[in-house]
Amino acid sequence: MSTAGTTSEEIRADILRLKQERNAVILAHNYQIPEVQDLADFVGDSLGLSQQAAETSADLIVFCGVHFMAETAAILSPAKRVLIPDLAAGCSLASSITGEQLRSWKAEHPDAVVVSYVNTTADVKAESDYCCTSANAVKVVQSIPEERQVLFLPDMFLGTYVQKVTGRKNILVWWGECHVHAAIGPQEISQARHSHPNAEFLVHPECGCVSSTMYLLSQNDPSTMNGAVLSTSGMLRHARQSPSREFVVATEPGILHPLRKENPEKRFYAVSEESTCGFMKMITVEKLWRSLRDDVFEVTVPEETARRARIPIERMLAAS
Ligand code: 13P
Ligand code: SF4
Repeated sequence: MSTAGTTSEEIRADILRLKQERNAVILAHNYQIPEVQDLADFVGDSLGLSQQAAETSADLIVFCGVHFMAETAAILSPAKRVLIPDLAAGCSLASSITGEQLRSWKAEHPDAVVVSYVNTTADVKAESDYCCTSANAVKVVQSIPEERQVLFLPDMFLGTYVQKVTGRKNILVWWGECHVHAAIGPQEISQARHSHPNAEFLVHPECGCVSSTMYLLSQNDPSTMNGAVLSTSGMLRHARQSPSREFVVATEPGILHPLRKENPEKRFYAVSEESTCGFMKMITVEKLWRSLRDDVFEVTVPEETARRARIPIERMLAAS
């Protein structure tokens, strides 16, 4: 894409002009690059972004995130156009189960309730009873009667976390993972504890270390480990309220930007600066500009799929 002769300041100004002209809203996930986050009207986690997409009065939603998020916005706002600045921005976790695979799994357990993480395609959502995000997975599962079997998908670490917190034995978990979070294991946490002995640990439930982290946190001994398992916006809320001065975050390092912006007096470190999500990082300021200017790339969901997928998402929003 040629931006020859245009300065970054001019691009930013044109994005703001186009946004107004087209009555558009720019939504960005907490993992987006700082320059994109700073241009957005709303920056948040998957739950907050779904809520914004459902409520906005704009005509156009430009989604700076990954494809399933833009699809969720299209499902919730069928009368609006939804654009994503790069169609290749996918998600390894969402790719770990297809609608066909879920239909087969359901056929093996016909009486089970299906709870799908929001990181799934519209086809998978259409086959689900409830959606959830990392911010409300426990709450959503707790709202399902104790005696009903639950099929939880597609993240095995989040699923195991939900099994442990709810204490339910009747949750079957799909064996999918996010390649970024799965790589953050107990060894990475133990190295970070060694480097930052006084820090509080904020751990995303998709991480490969979530079970061992929960064990350490359950010891209730701050000298063993101080911290919490949280969604990305949960981390922001926690950091704002906590008296701690130093934090280690176990998630995609894009979260460091809003954490540092909101808490300039506190210090934040990523467990691993290399654990970036290449899909999230595909969105650039130039691509956001092109999206608004050239009206690309529209994300649509077939009407019947959207109708069925809206039910589990709306149940999740009602339970949040
Ligand atoms: P949350 O922002 O909802 O915690 O999700 C993290 C994630 O991996 C989104 O792709
Ligand atoms: Fe998907 Fe993982 Fe990237 Fe989130 S961080 S968008 S779950 S691949």
